[in-house]
Amino acid sequence: MLIDSYNRVHDYLRISLTDSCNLRCFYCMPDEKIACLPNKHLMQPDEIDHIAALFVQLGVKKIRLTGGEPLVRKEAGDIIRRLGKYPVELTMTTNGVRLHEFATDLQTAGLRSINISLDTLQAEKFLLLTKRDNFQKVYDNIHRMAALGLRVKVNVVAMKGVNDNEINDFVALTRELPLHIRFIEFMPFTGNHWDHAKVIGLQEILDIVAQQYAFEPIRHKKHDTAKNFQVAGHAGTFAVISTMTTPFCGDCNRMRLTADGKMKNCLFSKTETDLLGALRRGEDLVPLIKACIGAKAAERGGQFTEDYTHTDPQHIENRSMIAIGG
Ligand code: GTP
Ligand code: 5AD
Ligand code: SF4
Repeated sequence: MLIDSYNRVHDYLRISLTDSCNLRCFYCMPDEKIACLPNKHLMQPDEIDHIAALFVQLGVKKIRLTGGEPLVRKEAGDIIRRLGKYPVELTMTTNGVRLHEFATDLQTAGLRSINISLDTLQAEKFLLLTKRDNFQKVYDNIHRMAALGLRVKVNVVAMKGVNDNEINDFVALTRELPLHIRFIEFMPFTGNHWDHAKVIGLQEILDIVAQQYAFEPIRHKKHDTAKNFQVAGHAGTFAVISTMTTPFCGDCNRMRLTADGKMKNCLFSKTETDLLGALRRGEDLVPLIKACIGAKAAERGGQFTEDYTHTDPQHIENRSMIAIGG
């Protein structure tokens, strides 16, 4: 088992398949990020398989595939099928643009849930935010995945002046559909124009929903990043992922592998452990993985002030979101 110095058991691995994407969201991809990693620097399918097998032996119970956009990786289908053989809950976070092409692979690999990012319900705003005209594809794929019986979470990064006027439109979607809408507090990453004034916090989101709906908190599952709520009589739920105002690190069970095979013990960790380099040199990865977990900070990589409005994004050492995988 992978246990850190705060006694947290780590049994959830997020594997990024690529640092490229078919959308161009400003809060995720820095303006200067044009080049993506050359293929030889990416973990190859057999390397992903090998590293995943090691983590499973070390107690991992859940694997989430991320990106960039995981479904632009040309070997995505192969990787999904390979990981489908492990006794873990396999799942994915995607922008949804290409999901219809992978329905069979996902079903064969036994996926039961999927997280899809969508920050606006307005096609023109989607084009402005992502620089691509793909709203309808994503919207249709959300419905397609729900119709296939997958549990669908919709990730909405809440940003002041961008989509704060749509919060209740998203909640309205949960009336008929069993969707789980999650508003995410905007977080700082390298080059993403974060500023504390753009964050819409947990309480503010709840106040906006309360203007239109009566809702109740629902059961919090251990390790859940989200605080969950439901409007009475609605088929779906809504939630807030409150990293900035109310962090949930005490319960953390997550580890990350970047597409170039670096292990991060936290979304905000400064340091990284080069598992891919070690694998290619024929070294034993287990002591490296254990040391990486042993060095994990108590909260948010030790890089934030308690009151997020005092956090200076210039002082946070990290990658951009697209190069981490979320
Ligand atoms: P579940 O496995 O369904 O709980 O998904 P998730 O919420 O962990 O993953 P997802 O990839 O959908 O991410 C949603 C948001 O939560 C993104 O903004 C992530 O960056 C953020 N997030 C995911 N994991 C962590 C984490 O370990 N810490 C923090 N602070 N945020 C996280
Ligand atoms: N703050 C919060 N969430 C973010 N995401 C990407 N960048 C940010 C950010 N700066 C979300 C994506 C995706 C998930 C992996 O993380 O929209 O849903
Ligand atoms: Fe875990 Fe780091 Fe996320 Fe906190 S910020 S929940 S420690 S990954």
